[in-house]
Amino acid sequence: MSILPYYGDFRVLIVDDVADNIQVIMNTLKEESYKFSFATDGKQALELIRLNTFDLILLDIMMPGIDGYEVCATIKQDPILSDIPIIFLTAKSDIDSIKKGFMLGGSDYITKPFHADELLSRVKHQLELYRSKQILKHHNLNLQSKLEKKETRLLSELEENQKEMIYILTELMEATSDETGKHIKRVAECSRLLAHYHKSLSEEDANLIYDASPMHDIGKISIPHDILHKKEKLTPQEFNIMKTHASVAYNLLKNFDRKILKSAAIIAHEHHERWDGSGYPRGLAGEDIHIYGRIVAIADVFDALTHKRVYKEAWSIEEAVEYIKNHSGSKFDPYLVEIFLEHLDEFIKIAQD
Ligand code: C2E
Ligand code: SIN
Ligand code: SIN
Ligand code: SIN
Ligand code: FE
Ligand code: FE
Repeated sequence: MSILPYYGDFRVLIVDDVADNIQVIMNTLKEESYKFSFATDGKQALELIRLNTFDLILLDIMMPGIDGYEVCATIKQDPILSDIPIIFLTAKSDIDSIKKGFMLGGSDYITKPFHADELLSRVKHQLELYRSKQILKHHNLNLQSKLEKKETRLLSELEENQKEMIYILTELMEATSDETGKHIKRVAECSRLLAHYHKSLSEEDANLIYDASPMHDIGKISIPHDILHKKEKLTPQEFNIMKTHASVAYNLLKNFDRKILKSAAIIAHEHHERWDGSGYPRGLAGEDIHIYGRIVAIADVFDALTHKRVYKEAWSIEEAVEYIKNHSGSKFDPYLVEIFLEHLDEFIKIAQD
């Protein structure tokens, strides 16, 4: 089917093994400005149809070789040609032949001998119908592709807005973060790396976790300033308040529909859960902790340990690695610790950023 509808003269193919019949049909239709083509057998007809574009086919049934039924069936099976209307024009007037013609996809069936007016009006009718359908189809296709483009744009705008929102929130959090403000970025990179080497996670997971993990501590926006920035060790009561940052973030994010925010909600909720069930807020253990949560747990602690906080000095890389290693299977998912140790140089590079 051509995308642009054709507005020129109608192109009509007449197929009949008797040349006189073709002449009679042409004479009948000659008042209209149609462009005619002819074929005197089925094979020739199919060749012409494949090489040219027609708006209507007038088709005899009984022909030597490929008969009209077969020509019709062939055309109707070809998705490019199947829309072209076919009018059978034949001496076969029995009800079974007529039925077969329609069943094979014919649009009309005219028996010979025909009245000139009848042929003319039925041909006109099929041509107008066909053109209307082509125009409708053209508009539908146009409309459809416009809608698709709009939808894609809307989706990518949403995606962009979301990344922007994460960026803004990230910036906001950096004000309450470590000295350099790069904590979030490094945690995102470490997390992506752990996901990348995880044998049952995809690159899509890795990218998702990279986009979502910056929000893991977004709940800290609700923590009072004098607790968040306290230079000393927190009292147990203060630490209880601090611990609410996981659930605060979860409640903030959980109602969004987008994948990134849904993942961010899970990560925020579960990045302080510990493999042995000693973490918070729910005390989940093992694989009950979402893998994204288990991943960010390692990335977060490794980064917090290796960097200065208002309340603590930075540990050396060796001390931090030792801490992760020693808590494999207690605080941390042992498989993830394996990945961490196996690719240690890459994690250290991120920590030194
Ligand atoms: P954070 O500073 O980003 O630390 C994230 C996690 O890294 C901590 O989660 C903890 O698991 C680990 N971590 C950080 N520093 C140390 C450390 O010196 N020793 C050990 N063993 N682990 C460490 P956690 O404990 O749930 O703390 C959550 C957040 O609470 C911390 O995020 C920080 O913002 C705050 N926080 C924790 N303890 C104190 C504190 O004594 N003073 C202040 N001002 N804030 C604290
Ligand atoms: C932040 O995420 O910006 C705060 C630092 C932290 O994760 O403890
Ligand atoms: C701060 O250092 O400003 C607050 C605690 C932290 O996020 O490390
Ligand atoms: C942890 O690694 O989850 C806790 C360590 C700490 O808070 O000292
Ligand atoms: Fe946290
Ligand atoms: Fe953190």
